[in-house]
Amino acid sequence: MKIGIIGGGFMGEAFIKGMLNSKKFNSNDIIVIEINEKRLNVLKNYKVQISNTIKDIKNAEIIILAVKPQKLNKVLQDMSFYSNKNSLLISIVAGIKIDEIIHTSLHKKIARVMPNLPASIGYGTSAYITSADIKPKDEKKIQNILDAFSKVVVKVKDENSLDAATAIHGSGPAYMFLILEYIIESAKKIGINEHDAFNLATSTMIGSAKYASASNSNLQELREAVTSSGGTTEAALKILNDGRLKKIIEDAIFQAYNRAIELGK
Ligand SMILES: NC(=O)c1ccc[n+]([C@@H]2O[C@H](COP(=O)([O-])OP(=O)(O)OC[C@H]3O[C@@H](n4cnc5c(N)ncnc54)[C@H](OP(=O)(O)O)[C@@H]3O)[C@@H](O)[C@H]2O)c1
Repeated sequence: MKIGIIGGGFMGEAFIKGMLNSKKFNSNDIIVIEINEKRLNVLKNYKVQISNTIKDIKNAEIIILAVKPQKLNKVLQDMSFYSNKNSLLISIVAGIKIDEIIHTSLHKKIARVMPNLPASIGYGTSAYITSADIKPKDEKKIQNILDAFSKVVVKVKDENSLDAATAIHGSGPAYMFLILEYIIESAKKIGINEHDAFNLATSTMIGSAKYASASNSNLQELREAVTSSGGTTEAALKILNDGRLKKIIEDAIFQAYNRAIELGK
């Protein structure tokens, strides 16, 4: 099965890495269309087929669209002269709706996917939605590709839900980085050096998330299990759980959700 990727930038490369590392795909299966000379040189390392002309998309059975939103319209117009209209389009382009992709590309089988940054190390989280013409066998192909770079894949019910998911997992890595930054800054103020603070904080975040996802207990039970009466955790939680942080996080997620809706208009 030939997979074409249009746009071999940051996310396009993440797809290539994920697919090759999964061993479900090999380099002969993949062709990347990229116009940036520097990126073409980087992509050569993966031994996939590379091309700087959209004509070479003609044999692809699955086409992954990984260009910036402002470039998509032109790419779809150019692509539609050469692409097989039965092929499956997987768009990771933020904010561009399925109807718009169908209208410009003349393809009918579309999946809109929102991956996130850890996809580049095979630890992504992806949410997706499909057009009405996607059949179960197409859906299997989509999931196969998403599984190559995602630990969790969630199918959402409509494009509004994709905007909502974007506010959680698409922007989510930035929220986690900010929390880690603040923890590290505080750690330094109580005498821990930056290197140790980084390792202690990042490892705690990874371990806690893995523990929570492997546990049968809910998050409140897990939190209570770490909190002994009169102890250090309780002292911290008296401040963290006084309602301000809850409100800040809720406001931030609502803002991200509203922005995702605005960008899609
Ligand atoms: N980065 C993320 O964390 C993330 C997460 C979820 C979704 N996304 C979505 O993923 C898409 C790609 O993001 P990215 O960060 O990978 O962008 P990127 O690094 O800019 O990659 C896009 C690549 O496509 C090239 N390109 C532009 N026009 C082209 C054309 N006509 N034919 C072939 N290649 C072309 C660009 O070259 P030039 O630079 O020369 O234009 C660039 O190398 C975006 O739509 C974004 O919304 C990104």
